[in-house]
Amino acid sequence: MSGSIISVRNASVRLNDHTVLEDISFDLERPSILMVVGPNGSGKTTLLKLLLGILKPFKGTVEVLGLNPFEDGKKLRRLVGYVPQKDKISYETPLKVGEVVLMGTLLKKAFPRSISKEDIEAARKALAYMGMENLWRSFFNELSGGQQRRTLIARALASDPALLLLDEVFASLDFESQGNLLSLLRIFKENRKTVVIVEHELDPIIDLADKILVLNRKVCAYGDPWDVLSEERLKPVYPCLRSLEKEGRRILILGDKHA
Ligand SMILES: Nc1ncnc2c1ncn2[C@@H]1O[C@H](COP(=O)(O)OP(=O)(O)O)[C@@H](O)[C@H]1O
Ligand SMILES: [Mg+2]
Repeated sequence: MSGSIISVRNASVRLNDHTVLEDISFDLERPSILMVVGPNGSGKTTLLKLLLGILKPFKGTVEVLGLNPFEDGKKLRRLVGYVPQKDKISYETPLKVGEVVLMGTLLKKAFPRSISKEDIEAARKALAYMGMENLWRSFFNELSGGQQRRTLIARALASDPALLLLDEVFASLDFESQGNLLSLLRIFKENRKTVVIVEHELDPIIDLADKILVLNRKVCAYGDPWDVLSEERLKPVYPCLRSLEKEGRRILILGDKHA
């Protein structure tokens, strides 16, 4: 065991005969906030799936929270909150918003599983953070894509995971929910938890990030934000990169094709 929170060593992933991640190596040594950026199709979602044990590397090793995601996937997923990128999700059984959030909590428990008053309180609080407190009894399948997404974020937060994986959630949130989520992530960080945030915009998460990984099938850069976010290191990944100085802050506009 590496003693790191996340340790990826020379991992490569192939999908349909295409190598979508090649020779990925990085270590997140302490509980922290890792931001993963990269152009569309650069393998960000694939990397999250690799960390969760949903995909297996054909080469290399992956360790998350001291576990091998492929051998201890069940155990690992109890410790992890994951908000996937997919826009619209439909449950076969009509579930209400409150039930969707509580289901996340329930699935993380050992047998015999039951919901406590505290669980319900945590679920309500998480939904309130996402501006969804009035929709507790609404049917999940009838919500808009954005509301579904906020429900799924609340579900991941409510179970108080040791590791939270967020796949491009910020763009789907309104300004107020973005602010609330950022405050929550700050509390997460203070409580020594780890968050992996995949985004293709650096703002507004950049201030929170402890480490940045720039991905484009391979690891283009990895390290402390202001070391990584230099134009020289980003230019090869984002040919349309522009840098602006505004009110004493430097803003990098990544400008990939779909941004
Ligand atoms: N199930 C799949 N089968 C084959 N190729 C896939 C599959 N899922 C993703 N890919 C390909 O893998 C690459 C990386 O995808 P992805 O991880 O979704 O990138 P990102 O999240 O950075 O946009 C893309 O070229 C994509 O087309
Ligand atoms: Mg993706």
